Amino acid sequence: MPIHFNNAGAGLMPEAVTQAMTGYLAEEARGGAYEAEQRHADTLEHGVYETLGRALDAPADDIALFDSATRAWSSVVSHLPFTSGDRVWVTPYEYAGNLILWTELRRRFGLTIEVVPLVADGDLDLEWMSAHIGDDVAFVAVPHVPSGCGIVTPVEEIGKILAPWRCFYGIDACQSVGQLPVSVASIGCDLLTGAGRKFLRGPRGTGFAAIGPRLRAQVSLPFHDLHIADMVADDDYEVNTSSARRFEYAERGSAGVMGLDAAVRHHLARTDGGPGPLRDAVRAAIEELPGTRLVDPGSRHAAIVTFTHDRVSPERIRAELRARGVNVWIAQGSHTPLYMRTAGVEFAVRVSPHYYNSLADVETFADALRDVLR
Ligand SMILES: Cc1ncc(COP(=O)(O)O)c(C=O)c1O
Repeated sequence: MPIHFNNAGAGLMPEAVTQAMTGYLAEEARGGAYEAEQRHADTLEHGVYETLGRALDAPADDIALFDSATRAWSSVVSHLPFTSGDRVWVTPYEYAGNLILWTELRRRFGLTIEVVPLVADGDLDLEWMSAHIGDDVAFVAVPHVPSGCGIVTPVEEIGKILAPWRCFYGIDACQSVGQLPVSVASIGCDLLTGAGRKFLRGPRGTGFAAIGPRLRAQVSLPFHDLHIADMVADDDYEVNTSSARRFEYAERGSAGVMGLDAAVRHHLARTDGGPGPLRDAVRAAIEELPGTRLVDPGSRHAAIVTFTHDRVSPERIRAELRARGVNVWIAQGSHTPLYMRTAGVEFAVRVSPHYYNSLADVETFADALRDVLR
């Protein structure tokens, strides 16, 4: 088994997750998919929303399931009632997929997209935010942890700055759920999205959102699928819930939902202190090697350590480490383009340990990296 330091890509699924999924698939194959769904309705219709709600500190009614984090984000954000002249704040750490959507919405509605400035060490400039917030700001988008480097943004403090104002507040928690405490209630956000497959250790093809009631009340969706709407006359339908499930479509991969539920329950049962100490050890091992440069802005860091080397390419480092039994990944500058362009990073090595890795794994990684960079 390789040492898996690519949890920011996809974490290793615990046994409980693979068992939940393979057991469910076997039930579908042997006894019928609709019949399996009926047998597991408690989990599929209720339990998974409750466990996710507990994990995110949000009411179960605010939870909706999707097939990716991008789908979760775009399914909500693309239906917000923007008007011409609205300002939208993003940060230099915004994910490229979200930026593509913001660019589209700018064109469609005539939005002004403003990028929150950074202070010298790469932290977000909260004073600038306090000084410039106004009721013409319609949405503030903040990634809790970006895709390409490990900075942790101060989402609770930003929530306090924004609370008196009319803007919606959206958190991309794709890289933080599962590795850092995430509380929708403490952040005070209207939207928080994530993926099952990363630090939560769930299956691929699963994503989720917590969508608060204030936001739900102001979104007019162009379509409601038949699990939450009924044709009440030949030419009329009624939506039968005000919950966040209004954003979902009825059909989905139930085995994936079972796996997601198992992953969240596994996460809720954890008693470890998180990957912080491993992250520090990885960072120290990289830093001591000549020619390395950490891409490491900000004062608080999560378990994503990104670096380049002055002689050996990131792709070569990844391949050589893989040959030595260590999985790392490439952070593409174009995925976090606003920050990475100013940092001059096109590609970098991204090392993302998790709590189930050990300090011995970090030593093996350090020896392998030393060997590769010799
Ligand atoms: C910060 C961040 N946001 C969003 C995404 C998109 O997630 P998905 O691929 O599930 O749409 C990623 C994926 O790596 C990410 O790192």
